[in-house]
Amino acid sequence: MTTLTLERPGAAAGPVAGPLVDRFGRVHTDLRVSVTDRCSLRCSYCMPEHGVPLAPASFLLDASEIVRLVGIATRLGVTQVRLTGGEPLLRADLVDIVAGIAGLPARPEVSLTTNGLGLARLAGPLAAAGLGRVNVSLDSVDRVHYAAITRRDRLDDVLAGLEAARAVGLDPIKLNAVLLRGVNEADAVPLLDFALARGYELRFIEQMPLDGGHTWRRAAMIGADEILARLGASHRLTPLDGRGAAPAARWLVDDGPGVVGVIAAVTRPFCGACERVRLTADGCMRNCLFARGESDLREALRDGATDAELADMFRACVAAKRAGHGIGEPGFAQPTRPMSAIGG
Ligand code: 5AD
Ligand code: SF4
Repeated sequence: MTTLTLERPGAAAGPVAGPLVDRFGRVHTDLRVSVTDRCSLRCSYCMPEHGVPLAPASFLLDASEIVRLVGIATRLGVTQVRLTGGEPLLRADLVDIVAGIAGLPARPEVSLTTNGLGLARLAGPLAAAGLGRVNVSLDSVDRVHYAAITRRDRLDDVLAGLEAARAVGLDPIKLNAVLLRGVNEADAVPLLDFALARGYELRFIEQMPLDGGHTWRRAAMIGADEILARLGASHRLTPLDGRGAAPAARWLVDDGPGVVGVIAAVTRPFCGACERVRLTADGCMRNCLFARGESDLREALRDGATDAELADMFRACVAAKRAGHGIGEPGFAQPTRPMSAIGG
């Protein structure tokens, strides 16, 4: 699959070789692939309750198209591939996609971000196919709050999925939580206690302006300082160094071994160390969650583009990356697509 394809006559495409470097010297080694924009939940910070705009099914890349594009990305220096959505477990062929990516000559590390519904059934087959790690979205361990945020009463399914992930040896298991004012801010400590008791690594993510309803307001957002103050009231937190390019700053909890992370995407942006690029479920490449433009790889691919031509599109997209997301700056515009369409 990744042997060099002959270039089309007249095409001046460069070699399929990395690195994917931008104008600021950032080298991109992490590819987020949304495999579907469909979801089994309707988290209020992500999707509207009704009338979710979905791409036509024929626009979604099929498994072989995904594996081909990921294969090109690995030849351009991508070493980590995270499958996201929407909800990736809704893809009937997700196990094939994982197996295809894990079987690439460059063997990237394959991880998954999921809401956990269906993970009880799929954790085993996914691990067998080559999945290494999972991040599970869990904003509350209170069933009423969970249902209020996700608009579905499915907490038990998530808990069963988490147990299954542990049982099949996926490690580490990370939990992603978003706190919403007036809904689940009081759940920060119970979530941490839940994670510590089971050996899961909890990370709080500041809510970003990516909701389908465009209702995000910075003033209402629960920021890193407030999250840390809430946790600090019940636990002793010691900062850990070595965040590197990872978005989460981490703290040792009560002298360890438990750790908690905070992804302060809004109040302490980490764009300067960003090494991520994204592929949407309908085959568009984005150089940032908040990018204004996209590069339509699906159209090129279905039009017969060679690997070298697609590699050129990857490189051009990365080269055009802006310095940062610019949330809060004049002229900032929320992306027209919600998180579920872009891939987290
Ligand atoms: N802000 C922050 N995080 C978000 N997620 C989804 N939407 C948002 C948002 N607006 C998170 C989910 C999931 C991951 C893919 O992204 O909690 O864990
Ligand atoms: Fe679905 Fe994830 Fe969006 Fe929640 S955050 S609606 S689980 S895609």
